[in-house]
Amino acid sequence: MGPRPVPTRIPIARGRSVTLYCEDALAGLPRRLGHGTVDVVVTSPPYNLGVRYGAYTDRRPRAEYLAWMGELAGAVRTVLGPDGSFFLNVGGRPKDPWLPWDVAREVGRSFVLQNVVHWVKSIAIDRGAAGRAAGLTAGLAVGHYKPVVSDRFLHGAHEYIFHFTERGDVRLDRLAVGVPYQDRSNVRRWQRAGGGTRCRGNTWFLPYPTIRERARDRPHPATFPPELPEWCVRLHGLDRTRRMVDPFVGIGSSAVAAARLGVDFVGFDLDPAYLEVAAARVGREIGRPRERAVRAPPTRRSSAEGSRSPRPRRGGSTRASASA
Ligand SMILES: C[S@@+](CC[C@H](N)C(=O)[O-])C[C@H]1O[C@@H](n2cnc3c(N)ncnc32)[C@H](O)[C@@H]1O
Repeated sequence: MGPRPVPTRIPIARGRSVTLYCEDALAGLPRRLGHGTVDVVVTSPPYNLGVRYGAYTDRRPRAEYLAWMGELAGAVRTVLGPDGSFFLNVGGRPKDPWLPWDVAREVGRSFVLQNVVHWVKSIAIDRGAAGRAAGLTAGLAVGHYKPVVSDRFLHGAHEYIFHFTERGDVRLDRLAVGVPYQDRSNVRRWQRAGGGTRCRGNTWFLPYPTIRERARDRPHPATFPPELPEWCVRLHGLDRTRRMVDPFVGIGSSAVAAARLGVDFVGFDLDPAYLEVAAARVGREIGRPRERAVRAPPTRRSSAEGSRSPRPRRGGSTRASASA
């Protein structure tokens, strides 16, 4: 498929925009974006697991697929600025647990792997383990997981977010996605630690939102929730993010995040039907009243977009489909 003559461009706020290209990402990145003009790339590529996409066949010989991921990394390296962050979300399957790491190794030829985040989709916490302060009256099981029918393998409840940078030394705004200290007794430590917030660490619990009807509410087989790219941008530093890119934008979860944050965004996908949905989602996002559109972890400081609190939610998932 050749490039669409006219990309979809949606103004969001303060002169910023979301631009969507129906175009091969590897060709589009260097064609549409200048050298070093991108601050953050957040993406989830096809995983080569045979997922049924509309315009892409997700089953290639492993070596060919990995070489393609290597080419993608090279293209991203060209457009990303020297202090940029490349967040790459990859999942696997029980019989092929090396896949995400094989991809990470390939991409690591062009970048330094600065952080590995575990995106937790579902978690079960025993009441005793949570401790008395949590006030649980029973154990907690939240989120949705990928059920695996097997007596050998466990249900799939997490994926990886590999954080790549040029030299491994990009300064992060860790408290922008921080969590409040549970122990409120040590006020001095709190003050030193930034007003009662600590680094969240490398496990992020981000459940999928509840959906009623798959075809209507999430017409794509493999999405991430918009909070995932939103947290990535906040971690990189919202004030240092002028432009964000997703080479495999799908139905636009990262575009929704960009609209929420007021950041310039460019996305690519081969499938025009997905891009239509992406544009509609961005439209709905910017049409929302501001206070309902914003959702993020508690922050120690108010950004231009304001402080945003997460609402833990339960719900159906795309890559995951059973509740905890
Ligand atoms: C894992 S999905 C991304 C989903 C997205 N994160 C979301 O939340 O909607 C991967 C996407 O890559 C697209 N794709 C596959 N090959 C591509 C290519 N060469 N260039 C651009 N997009 C491609 C597929 O159509 C699919 O929508």
